[in-house]
Amino acid sequence: MSSGTSGWEGEALLERRDAKTGALMLVAIHSSRLGPATGGTRLKTYPSEDLARRDARRLAEAMTYKWAAADFPRGGGKAVLAVPDGFGGAAREGLLRRYGAFLRELSGRFATGPDVGTSPADMDVIAETGAPYVFSRTPARGGAGGSGPWTALGVFAAIEAVGERLFGDRSPRGRRVVVQGAGSVGGPLIERLLEAEARVAVGDPSPEAMGRFRGVSGVELLAPETCLEAEADVLAPCALGGVLDAAMIPRLRCRAVVGAANDQLAEPADAGRLRARGILYAPDFVVNAGGAVAITGIEALGWTPARAEAAVRAIGGTLQRVLALADRNGLTTDGAARRLAEERLAAAQPRR
Ligand code: PHE
Repeated sequence: MSSGTSGWEGEALLERRDAKTGALMLVAIHSSRLGPATGGTRLKTYPSEDLARRDARRLAEAMTYKWAAADFPRGGGKAVLAVPDGFGGAAREGLLRRYGAFLRELSGRFATGPDVGTSPADMDVIAETGAPYVFSRTPARGGAGGSGPWTALGVFAAIEAVGERLFGDRSPRGRRVVVQGAGSVGGPLIERLLEAEARVAVGDPSPEAMGRFRGVSGVELLAPETCLEAEADVLAPCALGGVLDAAMIPRLRCRAVVGAANDQLAEPADAGRLRARGILYAPDFVVNAGGAVAITGIEALGWTPARAEAAVRAIGGTLQRVLALADRNGLTTDGAARRLAEERLAAAQPRR
């Protein structure tokens, strides 16, 4: 994300130490220009608390661009629960409840949903103390459930748009798509691709995630360490961020990158590196908005599932506009997507 190493221009980074577990709770509010800051809660162990803060800031900024590019009335924010190594078990629920109480104190300045390391079941727990600022609870608790399948639908629509552009054919049928990560987004994406008769290859360090696709016809299992370098029509990073950097980009053997991971570029210059190699990069924050848009649309705006589906499928059209804008102005695709989002932000009346 373009925040890179330069200054972060967000509104606030709120911190709370959880005395019982030693975890650091971070709520980064990047921009509330388009609406209340909303973004997932990431639960992870970081090598240092400064890296946790950096992640929260970058991810919050990505949410600002995500909502703006999707033309959805929410602002950019993200929470990070930086937990000690080996954290888990009974301590987890307590932390989630105290985190919910923290959200409640913020009175809606920040609303959340699941992200890496958290699930709809976790949202149920957070909502016990943090309602009504918690989205994506389980259907049993009145929520809209997980966001992963919606995010996967948006990635699929983006892959169709890229197919149209590169091969003159929207259908991924017969194309080789390499998916890095078979988790809550990568898993449903692979299923959609198989339905569309794509040739899928997948790499994931988790044996359980890989196990789901072992022996499934149309799926090749790859070593997780090298799957980014595998030959592909489309590479879909659906795991963690920072995977496209100065060392990896020269090794890529794909025509396009279209994936769900947040913050795929290690630094802004990577957009130019991809372009120089002739690889079409579909900007992450455009491609991966589906989950946040659908769930927040359903739960906060009263959308029907059909309305949500239309909004998520529209990501394909947004991506086409971004590609056209990049062509017209000699921008990288990432630069064009940022310009589109920044125009929306500039046009919005400041709230309050
Ligand atoms: N993890 C989602 C994202 O990065 C965040 C989200 C999910 C926000 C569901 C709201 C509801 O886009």
